[in-house]
Amino acid sequence: MSETSPPSSDAAIEEDLDRIRRFYRDKFLPENAWSTLLPRPYLYLRQRQRRLRDTLIECGIDTPERLRSVDVLDVGAGTGTNLTWLVELGADPSRCTGIDIMPESVAVARERLPLVHWYSGDFSSTDVGGPFDVVMLLAVLTSILDPSLKQRIVDRCFSLLRPGGVLFFYDYMSKKEVRGSENYKRLSYAEVDGYFRGRTARWWRRDYLRASVANRIVPRFGVTAAELVQALGWFNIEGSFAYVRV
Ligand SMILES: C[S@@+](CC[C@H](N)C(=O)[O-])C[C@H]1O[C@@H](n2cnc3c(N)ncnc32)[C@H](O)[C@@H]1O
Repeated sequence: MSETSPPSSDAAIEEDLDRIRRFYRDKFLPENAWSTLLPRPYLYLRQRQRRLRDTLIECGIDTPERLRSVDVLDVGAGTGTNLTWLVELGADPSRCTGIDIMPESVAVARERLPLVHWYSGDFSSTDVGGPFDVVMLLAVLTSILDPSLKQRIVDRCFSLLRPGGVLFFYDYMSKKEVRGSENYKRLSYAEVDGYFRGRTARWWRRDYLRASVANRIVPRFGVTAAELVQALGWFNIEGSFAYVRV
């Protein structure tokens, strides 16, 4: 939150949480927005997996045995896609926790990963246990419009980390402040650095292949060709990753 913006009232935060629930129930979930059969989300999720792996290795969690002894929290976990992948890499599901405000999503996630500790509710006000070695906050902040709520969520992520723990962050960014739409607002780097309260982040900026380019390459040349173009970075957009060690 910018130092100048006044804190929001509890009623304003509650209103934003209601809007988030409506948006995900009525629009996002029925559209199956993360389906990996669609070229664009597939590339996005693959890129996310790569950066998560880079982060784990850079933070010394570089063997399956080390990953197995790590406590992980996924905030705004949706239907459990990120934790599913982390468990595939070697994380112990009984040491993983996920929370989402949408009970429908948590029900799907629980079926996919029954050993994970699942919570349904607003992360800023739900007890999820802890502490954790890794907290993931992926594609959540852009869904939230209220700056005080974003700050609360980031503060809570840091407060639940053990010393030496790592916050893994991803979202749509923009170099400048941009106007929000009704259910979505890009973040600026300065804004997110503000939410991190001066902690040093390691950023991978502009890491996603532009949708129009992905949609042209994939049908003709396949996913591998699109991934190569994505790796070059020439046509990428500001889907950006960061991690912060505490
Ligand atoms: C775009 S989805 C991303 C889901 C998942 N992190 C992923 O990367 O696939 C954002 C998720 O954040 C959840 N969310 C938004 N605000 C939340 C809050 N205050 N507490 C818990 N979950 C929240 C939404 O319900 C939604 O599932």
